Amino acid sequence: RALLVPGGLWRELDVLPETGSTNADLANRADEAEGLVLVAESQVAGRGRLDRRWTAPPRSGLAVSMTLAPNEVPVARWGWLPLLAGVAAASAVSRFTGVEVRLKWPNDLLVGERKLAGILAERAGSSVVLGIGLNVSLHEEELPVPTATSLLLAGAESTDRDPILRALLREVEEWYTRWRLAGGDAQACGLATAYTDACATIGRRVRVELPAKPTLEGTATGIDDEGRLLVAGPEGQVAVGAGDVVHVRPA
Ligand code: BTN
Repeated sequence: RALLVPGGLWRELDVLPETGSTNADLANRADEAEGLVLVAESQVAGRGRLDRRWTAPPRSGLAVSMTLAPNEVPVARWGWLPLLAGVAAASAVSRFTGVEVRLKWPNDLLVGERKLAGILAERAGSSVVLGIGLNVSLHEEELPVPTATSLLLAGAESTDRDPILRALLREVEEWYTRWRLAGGDAQACGLATAYTDACATIGRRVRVELPAKPTLEGTATGIDDEGRLLVAGPEGQVAVGAGDVVHVRPA
């Protein structure tokens, strides 16, 4: 609780030694006012995007979820929330640990080509639950997949979890407040620019697996008003949602 700034967005922070999934826990509290934060030392049923799982040895990382409810922002623009979380997490990590982080669309945090953190945004009632999983002190043999990495492996100046969490909450609050005051207009509040600057996918060749459609190959050119990735392919420009599988091709 010492982490919370009175009068700020975050009004309750709980830390659990173990739970299934912090996202699932907060989804059950989606009808409460926004600003809940839940941290788990260990998750036994951590959820990832696209029905994947998120696993990490106990206390080796940061598993945190928060609730947001930007009611006056048109729902179509809520697609920017996970991207906002990516920008906030990347800047908190870079600033606090000195590790240079880039984003893979929509919101994986990468160090080089390896994944340091993932973000899962889920709608629950009139809220969005934003969950962030960050690999902090995992050693090579503890990585869930060889293409992952951790702050420790990336040579971070510090692997202290509390200050990283504090920096993360501050960054999310700052961006969220700006975005919300701008009515969810990512261009107007500078979020679109910040995202594009941090994103390693834009400008690259990508292969997109679309449900019930042929695989699309093209160049990622930018992000639209709803947070979708724009891909220029042989048949013109296509907007790709976060539910579609996007592979970034080696340069
Ligand atoms: C992904 O990269 O697929 C997203 C991973 C998100 C993991 C975090 S850990 C905290 C929160 N609770 C969950 O069950 N998932 C998210």
